[in-house]
Amino acid sequence: MKLENPLTGTMVSLDEWWMPFTANRQFKAAPRLLARAEGMYYWTPDGRQVLDGTAGLWCVNAGHSRKPIVEAVQRQAATMDFAPPFQVGHPVAFEAATAVASVAPAGMGHVFFVNSGSEAADTAIKMALAYHRARGEPSRRIIIGRERGYHGVNIGGTMAGGIPGNRKIWPAMMAGVDHIRSTHDLARNAFSRGQPAHGAEFADELERLVAFHDPSNIAALIVEPMAGSAGVLIPPAGYLEKLAATCRKHGILLIFDEVITGFGRLGSPFAAQHFGITPDILTCAKAINNAAVPLGAVLASDAVHDAIVNGAGEGAIEFLHGYTYSGHPLACAAVIATQKLYAAEKLFDRAREIAPYWEAALHSLKGARHVIDIRNLGLVGGIELEPRPGAPARRGFEAHVKCFEAGALVRFTADILALSPPLVIEKTQIDQLVETIGAALQSID
Ligand SMILES: Cc1ncc(COP(=O)(O)O)c(C=O)c1O
Repeated sequence: MKLENPLTGTMVSLDEWWMPFTANRQFKAAPRLLARAEGMYYWTPDGRQVLDGTAGLWCVNAGHSRKPIVEAVQRQAATMDFAPPFQVGHPVAFEAATAVASVAPAGMGHVFFVNSGSEAADTAIKMALAYHRARGEPSRRIIIGRERGYHGVNIGGTMAGGIPGNRKIWPAMMAGVDHIRSTHDLARNAFSRGQPAHGAEFADELERLVAFHDPSNIAALIVEPMAGSAGVLIPPAGYLEKLAATCRKHGILLIFDEVITGFGRLGSPFAAQHFGITPDILTCAKAINNAAVPLGAVLASDAVHDAIVNGAGEGAIEFLHGYTYSGHPLACAAVIATQKLYAAEKLFDRAREIAPYWEAALHSLKGARHVIDIRNLGLVGGIELEPRPGAPARRGFEAHVKCFEAGALVRFTADILALSPPLVIEKTQIDQLVETIGAALQSID
């Protein structure tokens, strides 16, 4: 099969690009292609409009191809395409770091740039280990994650992550991880609106693991404050508070992976502010620059930063870590423009204000065919379908395909549909999204 690149007019084959997290053979036999994007919509190569119910991949929070961001990237590309970040700096990266720090939780204004969420997770883990070593506790090496957690695909994130399929074919490349259980509890919490009422006690498992391993061996707990990739798992009321208290009590660093919750998804800059819990290290990426150019960041508390940076000898490189593209000028120009746009359009407030409408619209699907749970928080929604007997994940996939054909982009993780539209979504577009999903569910077995 051949496909036209609309920009160059070249006819291209689908064979060579080995696509990530995609069933390549299935996809290439019947591809779902996107050629253009603006605001709330994509367009397929044949000109069909597709409403974006996923902000790309939890990342285009201001809507697509926004002019101020596009122009900032164009200007930067023409002014200085690249500058090395090791031992040389440039004002764009410093301004971008300041812009991110200005919305960070209090005391977390040290911004280490990376290129993706995966790199942010691995950087955070290395930072936690470096912190304990700098403070004279090098035995603290165990990282605790959570079942169904997702922290990207690099080694640290894979091992600290809790999605069995993502881990099983790699033997323990990073020794010393353990996991608390996931908070998913359909029996007690199905069709919860906002934070579920039951499950704060799942946090007690952290105390059990701490006693088992001994605090002197544990470096950090890494969790998504709201898990997205494994199927939208909202933390039960009181759960995160308990985790944070346990970490504090035992000198364990709390790492919040905010790669999808960062920059307004829950109606605050970060989930940390939404839940009123300040971690020690926070990872972000995606919406940091509206996904215009790849970029991630790790935010460190004063204590973490100061222990590592002030603990090193005069003239020494304090943290032997970084990437050629850390603080890439194009990505950082996009950060500055994006953060200005978020502020000018008050998009985080907008997400918070439209969230009740979103919640009501999503829950109107209760009773629709195959639906066994609906959950929501901020501008996030999860719709869990009963798996088809003997064919888990098929219904989720078919619902995704039907929605795409009917003009809406909806993400699926096994049999869970995940929704996270750009924060600029209008009420009529919410209605359209929900109607499209309802009709798709009706049409599949
Ligand atoms: C919580 C979380 N962490 C890390 C990642 C990995 O980000 P990336 O795909 O940019 O490496 C993701 C991606 O969805 C994520 O949701």
